[in-house]
This record gives sequence, C-alpha cells and structure tokens, in this order.
Amino acid sequence: MSKNFYITTPIYYPSGKPHMGHAYSSIVADIFARFKRLEGCNVLFLTGTDEHGQKIQKEAEKNNKDPKKFCDEISETFRSLTKILNLTNNDFIRTTEIRHSKSVNEIWKRLIKSGDIYLDKYSGWYSVSDEAYYDKDEIEEQNGKKISKTSGSSVEWVEEESYFFKLSAFQKKLLDHYKKNEDFILPHSRKNEVVKFVEKGLKDLSISRTSFSWGIPVPENKKHVIYVWLDALTNYLSALNFPNTKDEKYKSFWPADVHIIGKDILRFHAVYWPAFLFAANLPLPKKIFGHGWILSNEKKMSKSLGNILDPIQVIKDYGIDQLRYYLIKEVSLGNDGSISMENLKNCINNDLANNYGNLCQRVFSFIKKNCDNKIPARNNLKDGDIKLIENIKENIPKLIDHINKQNLNEYVKMVVNFSFEANKYFNDSEPWALKKKDPKRMHAILHTIVEQIKNISILLNPIMPIATKKVLDTINLSDKEISINNILKDNNLDYNSELKDLNILFKKIENDN
Ligand code: MSP
Repeated sequence: MSKNFYITTPIYYPSGKPHMGHAYSSIVADIFARFKRLEGCNVLFLTGTDEHGQKIQKEAEKNNKDPKKFCDEISETFRSLTKILNLTNNDFIRTTEIRHSKSVNEIWKRLIKSGDIYLDKYSGWYSVSDEAYYDKDEIEEQNGKKISKTSGSSVEWVEEESYFFKLSAFQKKLLDHYKKNEDFILPHSRKNEVVKFVEKGLKDLSISRTSFSWGIPVPENKKHVIYVWLDALTNYLSALNFPNTKDEKYKSFWPADVHIIGKDILRFHAVYWPAFLFAANLPLPKKIFGHGWILSNEKKMSKSLGNILDPIQVIKDYGIDQLRYYLIKEVSLGNDGSISMENLKNCINNDLANNYGNLCQRVFSFIKKNCDNKIPARNNLKDGDIKLIENIKENIPKLIDHINKQNLNEYVKMVVNFSFEANKYFNDSEPWALKKKDPKRMHAILHTIVEQIKNISILLNPIMPIATKKVLDTINLSDKEISINNILKDNNLDYNSELKDLNILFKKIENDN
C-alpha cells in the first residue's frame, strides 16, 4: 500500500495581484508533492485563499465591492495562477466555503469545551496588513507612525470586547513538543527563534473581533467574528472534511506531513496552530518549514519600492520550467535570496540550454543519424559505463533524504552534477569517432548516455515537469514509468520503438546589450 503524504501551502490573501513571493511558496510545495508522487506516495497537495478579516474587508471597500464578490474575483486569479505555475494541487480551498466554516465552528466548540476560551476586553496594537497583534516591544515609531519592527507595516490601537484563547497555558506543552520533535520546525535556525519567543512567556490571544463583520461569526455570540488566523489555520483540516474524523480523507491525511510557509508567518503556524490543536485534542502536523524571502535586486519586494516581480509576466517572457528551476537553484530554501532577470537569463543559458538541453538534443540527433533512430541495447558495457549508471542509483537514498529534509538545493546540486558528468562522459568518449572503427563501443556509449538522460530527467521532473516530459516522451517512457523505481530497475529502456522528435528544449536568451 502506498504511503499517504499531505503537504500544504499558505492560503493567500486575495487582496491584490499574486506576486513572486506567493509563486515561490507554491512552486516549492509543488516540487515536494511531485517528488513524493515519483516515490510512489499517495499525495494530497492543498493550496487556496484566505478570504476573511479586516484586511480583505477594507480592500473590498476601497474597491467599492461587496467582500464576497471581491474575493470571488481575486481568488480566481490565484486559482488560475495554480495552472500557470503548473501546480499539481488536488484541491483549492477558499475560507468562504461552507465546508470551511463547518470546520472552524467545530474547532471553536472544542476550544470552548476544553475551557480554553473566555470573554474579556482587548486593548493593544494591531496590524491590519499582517492581521496580527503586537506587543509594545514589537513596535517602533518611524516618521511619526507606529509600525511593527518585524514586518514594517503600520499598527493601530484597538480596544474592544474580545474572546481570548488561553495561549499562556500551553507554554510548557509547546516547549516539550519542540524538544521532543527535533524537526517539527525547520530550518533549525527558525526553530530557535520560536523557542526563544515561547520561553519569554506567552500571553493569552485575542481570538475574536467586533469592530467589523467580515468573518465567521462566533457560534454563541454573533456580535463577534472569529480572528482570521484561527479561521485560516483551520483550512488545513477543512480540506479533509473535518469535523468528520471518520472520513477517509481525514483518516488518511491528518496529521499533515508538512506545512510549507514563509518565515513571516512562522509564529502563527509554530505557536498558535499547535496550541489550538492541543486544546482541540487533535494531533499536530509533523513539520512546519519556514522558507526565506525572495528579494528583488537585494530588497524585499514592495509596492512602494516598485520592485515587485510579476510571476505571470516572467513566465510569459521566459517559460514556467525556466522560472521554477531558477528559483530553486538560486535561492537557498531556508534563507532569503535575491533574484534578478539578469541571473535568470544566465541560468537559462548556462544550466538549461548549454547543459541539460544540449546534452539531450545532441544525443538524440546522433542516435537518429547513426543508429536508425533507436536506442542501442545494453551490450558490452565497460566498467566506466556501469559506474556512471550505478552512481545515480546508489545516490537515490541520499536524494530521497535531501527531499525529506527539505534540502532542495542540495538535491538540485547533485542532479545538476549528474548532468555535467553525463555531458563530460559523452564528450570524452567521442562516439562520433567510433562509427566505423568500433561500432560496438559506440553503441555501448549511446546506451549508457540515454540511461543517464532518462534518470536525470526523472529526477528533474518535479522541478521542470514540461521539458523533462518532452525528453522522456522522446524515448517512449510512459507517465507510469516516470518514477524513482524506474531509475532503480536495470535494463528497462525501450529498444524497439523509434525515438520521437525533440524540438529545442530551452531557447537561449540573447543579451539586450
Ligand atoms: N493568509 C496568510 C497565510 C495564512 S496560512 C493559514 C498570508 N497570506 S499572504 O498572501 O500574505 O502570504 C502568504 C505567503 O506568501 C507568505 O507566508 C510567504 O509564504 C509568501 N510570500 C509573500 N511574499 C514573499 C516574498 N517576498 N518571498 C517569499 N515568500 C513570500 O500570510
């Protein structure tokens, strides 16, 4: 029976156009989802939109729209982005759906039942843009305006009746959990920040608002709407048909294997979410991975700096596989990383066009000309050939381990290295000089190199699904055969069918100057 694997992205605020940061979280999660499928897992990959709260209500008002209508429109742009990014999400959840409000209501009831909710009054700082409460020591003054030190967004003073969640009661339980589960929060540097924050002591958390109405009403007091983060985090359960804990989806996929999020929302996922789940008597997700920021020309993307990169435009100009590969290669997953169009072009030219793309093209056209367009059978391989083939197979456990630890950059580095080695092997072996002199040797070399191309393409498939599929189609590998298992099997190339034609995989990008 195949192992179940549940992976999620953050659900995005449909408050404006999606930008590269949103695309990044989704692409990263998609790569893990695709790899797990290659490994034979039964994967559930969830993404969606986070539609309640003051931020969205205000944005809708600014646009003179009813909030639901406003969300319908912008949520659709996020949904269509999943297609443009070539995501393999099995579901797209919207927090305005009934399945979600049912699930949030049940969580609320569970927290009431466990005695972790009480009614009081909140007075303090609130950032609408972050939908977050901040302590005095978390804000500073800039140009006469109070802002959050971490996000830089402006905060306002709020005083209103509010239900509170007894977060303070969960300090020890949370710290114990972090200690017992080394990899619950990754990367470890981020985990240390969270541990320090919790060690300082936790205040009870305001979990309802009364000064606006766009949200899920508190079941027993309709004057209040539930705090948007308690609402939003529950989406991970709503998609599994919670509260029906007997439902196959819930039974198969909860607890989630990993929540992929940006570092900006770590506190919500690594402190609030587990505490809510403890109180609701539900199992905790296995892992929370907080990736860094994508910087545009060394700076955080923001409307005021005018350095926002529009993923849709970049994809139109350069292609989706190219963007997916570049983001993963350029940015070390746990850290902030700067991207630029100049580096994207260089990456396409050097890594993709000159290396992997060129290798495939050269080998296939050579086989077309010299071997009746059929892959030579596995005969007369020398030790060096076998060593090359075996090297990838032997490294499969290491590659799987890299993925399981979210070491995406190490993974890519290894696979790109296989591709460099394959190129070098092809050049050094000079099959073109052997056609008359030693055709048997020429065939052995061609067999070996196609085996390498197949395996490298399978490994690159989660990152560049379109290009690698074209290559694998060329050698008549069916979708079913695109798997890690296929790499481990011996002698399973198709020697009987002719190779299909392969058009240019990656066009070289001319420099403007
Ligand atoms: N709605 C909340 C998440 C709720 S999850 C239960 C939210 N939405 S968001 O639209 O503001 O941002 C979602 C995510 O987009 C961030 O956590 C992060 O993963 C990603 N990014 C947004 N800007 C980013 C960069 N510049 N760089 C990388 N990712 C960033 O927060």
